[in-house]
Amino acid sequence: MKRSIIKDLLKNPVFGETVCVKGWVRTRRGSKQVTFVALNDGSTVHSIQIVINLSSFDGEYIKDITTGACICVEGLLVESQGQGQSAEIQAHKIEIYGKADPAVYPLQKKGHTLEFLREIAHLRPRTNTFGAIFRIRHHLSFAIHKYFNRRGFFYFHTPIITASDCEGAGQMFHVSAFDPDNQPRTADNRIDFARDFFGRHTNLTVSGQLEGELGAMALGGIYTFGPTFRAENSNTPRHLAEFWMIEPEAAFYDINDNMDLAEDFLKYVITYSLEHCRDDINFLAGMYDAGLVDRLNFVLGNKFVRLTYTEGVEILEKSGRRFEFPVYWGSDLQSEHERYLVEEHFRRPVIMTSYPKEIKSFYMKQNEDMKTVRGMDVLFPKIGEIIGGSERESDCDKLLARVNELKMSLDSLWWYLDTRRFGTAPHSGFGLGFERLVLFVTGMSNIRDVIPFPRTPNNAEF
Ligand code: 4AD
Ligand code: MG
Repeated sequence: MKRSIIKDLLKNPVFGETVCVKGWVRTRRGSKQVTFVALNDGSTVHSIQIVINLSSFDGEYIKDITTGACICVEGLLVESQGQGQSAEIQAHKIEIYGKADPAVYPLQKKGHTLEFLREIAHLRPRTNTFGAIFRIRHHLSFAIHKYFNRRGFFYFHTPIITASDCEGAGQMFHVSAFDPDNQPRTADNRIDFARDFFGRHTNLTVSGQLEGELGAMALGGIYTFGPTFRAENSNTPRHLAEFWMIEPEAAFYDINDNMDLAEDFLKYVITYSLEHCRDDINFLAGMYDAGLVDRLNFVLGNKFVRLTYTEGVEILEKSGRRFEFPVYWGSDLQSEHERYLVEEHFRRPVIMTSYPKEIKSFYMKQNEDMKTVRGMDVLFPKIGEIIGGSERESDCDKLLARVNELKMSLDSLWWYLDTRRFGTAPHSGFGLGFERLVLFVTGMSNIRDVIPFPRTPNNAEF
């Protein structure tokens, strides 16, 4: 018999029909005569109730239908008498695909902490919480592609293995095909990468931006959406060593166009999630974050504040607040400062611009004051920095001067500088940390809980 998807059955039930469903048992309860099984197939946070009249089944066989088991059920779809559910299935035929021995299956009824579930990341998608999060993650990905496609931006695939360090922070994972116990050495006893697979030293990309810019300087508008890697030893609820980033890059955009794009884009994908993931968002709000829906609507309903770094630092200095990290002009703002501005001072998302050049990357457009650059960070409640971007330095001489000042290697950047030599144009772009967006939309508080298999310092299990 053809399998029905539980989400569809609950949405448009045709009572009196015989149906077939397949899924994993969430709970089982009942009496000597009748057993009730909550069955979930991952299509929705809601499980469907299966009613098993024990007089019509072999008790020995049915005994193995315990939490975690996978079963196939055929039966009659009837209106449910139980509270809070529209339809249930009176089972005629049951096949057990896979048992889950209750003595060892780790996901029993309820009450597991998120910390415990991280240790069983291979099974946690079977909980209501992680089912909801990963469905929202999917819908957000889809919305992102939809948004840029509609705006005429092309999905551009930038390499994962590269020889450059876009952010210049040196937080890279090295890529080598050498036998770690037997690496060829040069005469001065350094590892001889010239003899390695790529004939040079390579690493996992920290950002697709540099190659993304090449795309924008030909196709007009592009975006990337791929994994990026940072070997920064930050054990925080907002950092991953492997995370997904969306990086639009657009020719002929100045910093203001870039800010408009970022705000419109974030509002679009948040609206999309409210329209397409309402059951899952409501579930998570009920479990973890009562203010979630209000916070999402709040971001949608308010224009983001735009202010310069200098203005922001002044506000922080005058706040009278004692921060863990001191603030002064030139200091890199910490999450506590960003959240103060967003959550307490303005009570709105903030786009901060014109940062001191020393705390930003080499490629940002230099302002006339020679001190600041046209970077922009979008700061969100609960999250802090959700987007980082800038207008790019399109003047070849100025860019080259900055590259030299920072003693960056021209050897791995010549092609990037070529865009400024041949048909340069004003252009801008930004990077959205996908998991930070998923954190915001799900209301979860640890980034390890919004990616199926998180990679963090000392953790690459699964
Ligand atoms: O601010 P970042 O470092 O900017 C760039 O990489 C630019 N090349 C982007 C561009 O202009 N095309 O990173 C961009 C965003 C941050 O705002 C943050 O949301 C996220 O990526 N991010 C991280 N997310 C999770 N874990 C980490 N370790 C992250 N580092 C950055
Ligand atoms: Mg940043």
